[in-house]
Amino acid sequence: MPARTITVIGSTNVDMISRLDHLPAVGESVTGGTFLQTYGGKGANQAVAAARAGGEVSFITCLGDDQYAPQIIQNFRNDGIDTSGVIKRKEVHTGVALVLVDQHGRNSIAIASGANFAITAADIVHETDCIREAALIVMQNEISPEAAIRAIDIAHSARIPVMFNYAPVSGVPVPVSAKMNMLVVNETEASQLAGMDVIGVDGARDAAYQLHEMGPAVVIVTLGPDGSYVVHQNHGYHVPAYKVKVLDTTAAGDTFCGALAAAILEEMSLEHAVRFATAASAISVTRVGAWPSIPKRQEIDAFAEKMQEAGPTPA
Ligand code: RIB
Repeated sequence: MPARTITVIGSTNVDMISRLDHLPAVGESVTGGTFLQTYGGKGANQAVAAARAGGEVSFITCLGDDQYAPQIIQNFRNDGIDTSGVIKRKEVHTGVALVLVDQHGRNSIAIASGANFAITAADIVHETDCIREAALIVMQNEISPEAAIRAIDIAHSARIPVMFNYAPVSGVPVPVSAKMNMLVVNETEASQLAGMDVIGVDGARDAAYQLHEMGPAVVIVTLGPDGSYVVHQNHGYHVPAYKVKVLDTTAAGDTFCGALAAAILEEMSLEHAVRFATAASAISVTRVGAWPSIPKRQEIDAFAEKMQEAGPTPA
């Protein structure tokens, strides 16, 4: 494994996407939608995003031993991802996400976790070398908590930095601590973890400082069209978003995290890396689906250059 490897540990899903006029309320059926089946899962999206942004990526995930697994693994390989950490389990199905997207690009996602919750702490221990040899571990909260907690502990004891994207946030089974060197959350996740209403840039700043106090050296609260707020060593700053036409926000946060990981390993300054990740994420929301929306390195560089020439985005 190359010394500068990003090891992503996380979920993979088959995404069943329906684009609708509006998201159904409880008990409501909405007709007239369009359908697309692609692959996703927060872990897989971040692995793909990091690889397409130029990172050397190794992915630890668990799939069912079903009809989806061979194609998913081949797709990872097509993106240059090391799949030696992909586990297949006979007794479970590959994770499935039912993704509903409205006309504004907003989504609701229901997940049948399947194999993503079948990954155990023992599976993670089996991958200890892959964790210890990495330059950076990237994780999310979509696999079994005991596996996530064990991975964080192994990385921490080997002094390998962990970027933890606390998504989705439900029940907070994985404690926020200094073992997460970098914590990335959106407004909803920040609200729940910090125990406060997070609205706009000011709310993101307050939550980011509070989460920073809980241990992570870097906290980034992402705000969609309002960019993100970063706190690093008690110093905070706002990074604006790029103005684009939004088609589908699915995997925008994942694209941000994967691109951020790749940029950090290139030793860009944190602020520069966040701007790079913001550009990658801006491209992804102009396209439909998870993997199909994730940009390659040349596209990110070209977009960032074009935006720089165009000058600052109006507020
Ligand atoms: O973050 C987007 C992802 O969330 C989708 O790809 C879906 O699979 C769910 O995990």
